[in-house]
Amino acid sequence: MVTHALQASIRTATKADTQSLANLVHFEQYVHRHLDWRPPLEWIGHAPYLVAERNRNIIAALASPPDPPNIAWIRLFAVRSDFSPKAAWEELWPEALATLEQFSPSVSAAAIPMQSWFRKLLEFSGFNQTHKVVVLAWRAGVEACSPGKIGAIIRPMNLDDLSAVEDIDMAAFGAVWQNTLSCLELAYRQAAIATVAETEGKLVGYQISTATTMGGHLARLAVTPAYQGRGIGYSLLCDMLAQFERRGAYHVTVNTQHDNLSSLSLYQKAGFRRTGEEYPVYQYYPLLK
Ligand SMILES: CC(C)(COP(=O)(O)OP(=O)(O)OC[C@H]1O[C@@H](n2cnc3c(N)ncnc32)[C@H](O)[C@@H]1OP(=O)(O)O)[C@@H](O)C(=O)NCCC(=O)NCCS
Repeated sequence: MVTHALQASIRTATKADTQSLANLVHFEQYVHRHLDWRPPLEWIGHAPYLVAERNRNIIAALASPPDPPNIAWIRLFAVRSDFSPKAAWEELWPEALATLEQFSPSVSAAAIPMQSWFRKLLEFSGFNQTHKVVVLAWRAGVEACSPGKIGAIIRPMNLDDLSAVEDIDMAAFGAVWQNTLSCLELAYRQAAIATVAETEGKLVGYQISTATTMGGHLARLAVTPAYQGRGIGYSLLCDMLAQFERRGAYHVTVNTQHDNLSSLSLYQKAGFRRTGEEYPVYQYYPLLK
């Protein structure tokens, strides 16, 4: 074990650390958690997942396992409030990076920092803001959503559909936003409404939405590129909104990239409006050099 400037030893997290990590994640002040289908403790066992330990106490943790294989989201960075987040980051991030470099020279790291202290640490380490995620909201009864005929049926998603859903996801989203099969399965299991668009026995689009206290949140929506522009995305969206409305939901949110013009236009057409909330997306490319 090596002792660092933080006077802590760095090692890989194990299942035996679960309780200590839970305390860190739930009770400490400096905690960055990725908006994720898998909670941070469930990434234990996937590298890199590092802890800084002092006198047998975990004082900081950093998890950034790649998933999909070339994208390493910073899924957790947490530091005990009596230690410096900067000192912890400076010890943990280079170690995590070294592990990522061993996996593949083409891995890109990414993070959506919600707090300014974490944003500053990312900038300090050479992460750059590449784009923003913006939030839109829809309110029941304000605008009617009326899809035309699309030559496809919208039906509930089944577990057996997930492999085809993964193909749609991979084809429709850019690398940084793709979800792997295991992530999509978690999303499906957490969904309030999950539907697919099917034509001639083939899946060509899907959406997954979760329940919120006020209604719902559209978490994923994609249409296979060859079938885009035929009203399928709009129909999936309208069907999802109608289902939420029938359940008494009056507020549905969605996040998208500020420069995703097709999705912004689609959401506006369905009655969503920008809320003003936005979050920066940072990426780290030096691994590609
Ligand atoms: C966004 C997406 C789901 C739209 O699905 P689609 O089936 O192609 O959309 P539709 O044909 O139903 O179009 C409905 C409306 O969306 C908007 N739209 C769709 N494609 C567009 C494009 N290329 N440029 C501008 N607006 C577009 C338009 O407002 C359109 O209405 P109109 O036909 O009256 O102009 C699809 O492009 C996609 O899968 N993109 C990649 C994944 C993604 O970005 N998902 C959303 C992330 S939150």
